[in-house]
Amino acid sequence: MQNSRNFMKADFTKLQGIKTDQMLDLPQPPLEKPAAENAEIIDLIPVENIKIKKNNLQENIFNRRSHRIFTKEALTLEELSFLLWASQGVKEVITRDDKAYATLRTVPSAGARHPFETYLVVHNVETLKPGLYRYLAIGHKLVFLKEIEDQPKKMTDAALGQEFAGKCAVVFIWAMIAYRAEWRYHLVAHKAALLDAGHVCQNLYLACEGIGAGTCAIAAYDQEKTDDLIGVDDIDEFSIYMAPVGKPGN
Ligand SMILES: Cc1cc2nc3c(=O)[nH]c(=O)nc-3n(C[C@H](O)[C@H](O)[C@H](O)COP(=O)(O)O)c2cc1C
Repeated sequence: MQNSRNFMKADFTKLQGIKTDQMLDLPQPPLEKPAAENAEIIDLIPVENIKIKKNNLQENIFNRRSHRIFTKEALTLEELSFLLWASQGVKEVITRDDKAYATLRTVPSAGARHPFETYLVVHNVETLKPGLYRYLAIGHKLVFLKEIEDQPKKMTDAALGQEFAGKCAVVFIWAMIAYRAEWRYHLVAHKAALLDAGHVCQNLYLACEGIGAGTCAIAAYDQEKTDDLIGVDDIDEFSIYMAPVGKPGN
């Protein structure tokens, strides 16, 4: 128990005396996991072309709550584009020594490391076939990864039997690419990344309000089943958080 408590504490003094890989001038990992060659890439709607139905920040903050019952209504590609932009959208790529060094996004991240990839289990989004996708945040595109057999059941099982994960329009699953943060922050990367994840999901909640959708954060999921579902190795990349999204039915 004490180890878990200690993990929550500010531990930046641990870095004293440690040479991070950044300090050692080791090559920086990519800011985004690249798409495979010949992958199916889908353009998303640029945020400046998206009309937000409910744009009152005060009301959206007040009305935000967790939704676990959804209608069968599909999300449009425009709505999905907005949610992806709001939760992980890239506003600027910063270069250092002519190399891409950091992204500045719609959410904050310790040291601007942004160590996440956003996977989507799409059940019901207009113009997208059901299956697994990943957000290519820098270009604001999607890459189609695979079809998933028996998808609603597999998604529900991955969410530890929480049925709304199989009965929504789309599930956002955030995976951590650990070295993207460790390169700069070594042992203290992990606590900061969990704090980062909270900002990502909060923006998703608020953005959902803006388009008349709803979501619910999920931390109680099956690590192995989820990592298997999204096709990550559970060592260098692993899921840390998920959030089903749909049009609220309650
Ligand atoms: C980190 C985190 C993990 C959560 N995990 C779950 C979950 O696994 N299942 C669930 O139904 N709700 C989950 N929730 C939603 C909370 O139960 C919900 O936020 C809380 O009951 C307050 O309700 P509200 O969001 O409507 O204000 C989670 C929320 C957070 C912030």
